[in-house]
Amino acid sequence: MSGQANLLPNNRVLRYTFRERLIHWTAGISYVYLLLTGLAFWTPWLFWIAVVLGGASISRMLHPWAGLVFVFAVILMYGMWSAQMRETAEDKAWWDAMRFYISNEDEKVPPAGRFNGGQKFLFWSFFWCGIVLLLTGIVLWYPQEFPEAVRLVAIFIHPVCALATIGLFMLHVYMGTAYERGAFGSVIRGDVSRDFAMRHHRTWFEEILRQASAKQ
Ligand code: HEM
Repeated sequence: MSGQANLLPNNRVLRYTFRERLIHWTAGISYVYLLLTGLAFWTPWLFWIAVVLGGASISRMLHPWAGLVFVFAVILMYGMWSAQMRETAEDKAWWDAMRFYISNEDEKVPPAGRFNGGQKFLFWSFFWCGIVLLLTGIVLWYPQEFPEAVRLVAIFIHPVCALATIGLFMLHVYMGTAYERGAFGSVIRGDVSRDFAMRHHRTWFEEILRQASAKQ
């Protein structure tokens, strides 16, 4: 994305293109379905969720297919974002100042690029958990094709990995909707205010301004 194209009228800044949002919501919606049906299979206390979602056999049939959609979206995310998700010295400084981020003392938080250290951590965790969930999910989908030892490992690892993503997911939704005001609009409309860009992703925004002024 070039700097000039990122600067929009009314002091707005393009944060996510339509393609990025489409891929994000393909992952988001398929994940929520996986989460709900997965929890229904995990404990009898939550089995009613499968009933609400159309019945146990439909949920059992669609869960692995939704898993393929989710992993496909995560792989597309890898293609579009992995280069920007590499850890930098800036991220190390961001992690060291985590307490200021939590206590909302923005002026003490080191500037972040397009994604901060926490967002990068979420990205890589979702990516690797997605791969492990896919591999163990295939074993659970076609159990007769695998030896018992492999099946037992998959039965253990699949829910453990899913539970890890649930923790990440709850944190991500909280951060994106309640904690960082203005972030949710960026995955819906695509843009954020200049104030948001400056406050949360200063290095990224300053680079956009630099590119825009170099083009004028
Ligand atoms: C379904 C509920 C979800 C909501 C409400 C949501 C919300 C958001 C928001 C607001 C942002 C923009 C944050 C910013 O740029 O400041 C974002 C970005 C992102 N989302 Fe989601 N998301 C959801 C599900 C997911 C899922 C299931 C994944 C797993 C792959 C995911 C992965 C990401 C990634 C990697 C980013 C970019 C980096 C980051 O902001 O963490 N999201 N999401």
